[in-house]
Amino acid sequence: MKKSTGKTKAKAKDSEYAIEESKLMKLFEDSLKDIYWAEKALTKALPKMIKKATSKELVEAIENHLNETEEQIKKVEKVFELIGKKAVAKKCEAMAGLVKEAEEIMSETEEGAMRDAGIIAASQKVEHYEIATYGTLRTFAQILGLDEAASILEEILEEEKNADETLTGCAQAINMQAVEEEA
Ligand SMILES: [Fe+2]
Repeated sequence: MKKSTGKTKAKAKDSEYAIEESKLMKLFEDSLKDIYWAEKALTKALPKMIKKATSKELVEAIENHLNETEEQIKKVEKVFELIGKKAVAKKCEAMAGLVKEAEEIMSETEEGAMRDAGIIAASQKVEHYEIATYGTLRTFAQILGLDEAASILEEILEEEKNADETLTGCAQAINMQAVEEEA
């Protein structure tokens, strides 16, 4: 008797979990659409930053990340494919705001180290947004048992972290120069 009651309870729990899982799946898909839009927006924003940047090191760092971003778009498309959904981009207001902020910084600063410092600051905000998003997406994929998707998302997460570190490296020399330019 007791055993069967236990089983019924477990079954009830399972179906509750199934509902939650579908909600998580929906959230996962929505976040994926959001970052898909964000990555596409970045392929348009990064070339503008490259044009406005002066430091060779910074230009190279952004160029590399532009190539990476183009590949990330394909990786995100692969994740859509793995969940059997069409790759759809949904406007990400947060990324739109960050890109707008970058454009404002570029138009308000003089060319040189000062503008470069501004570009780095804006780019690192973008990277941190991406790190937060891919970290969440990776964890959602793990919970949902989407192992292949989780490893693709983990791969992108590492690329974003590396891009952020590269920018920190660029910032060290550029910030000093920006201060010297001001003096
Ligand atoms: Fe990215």
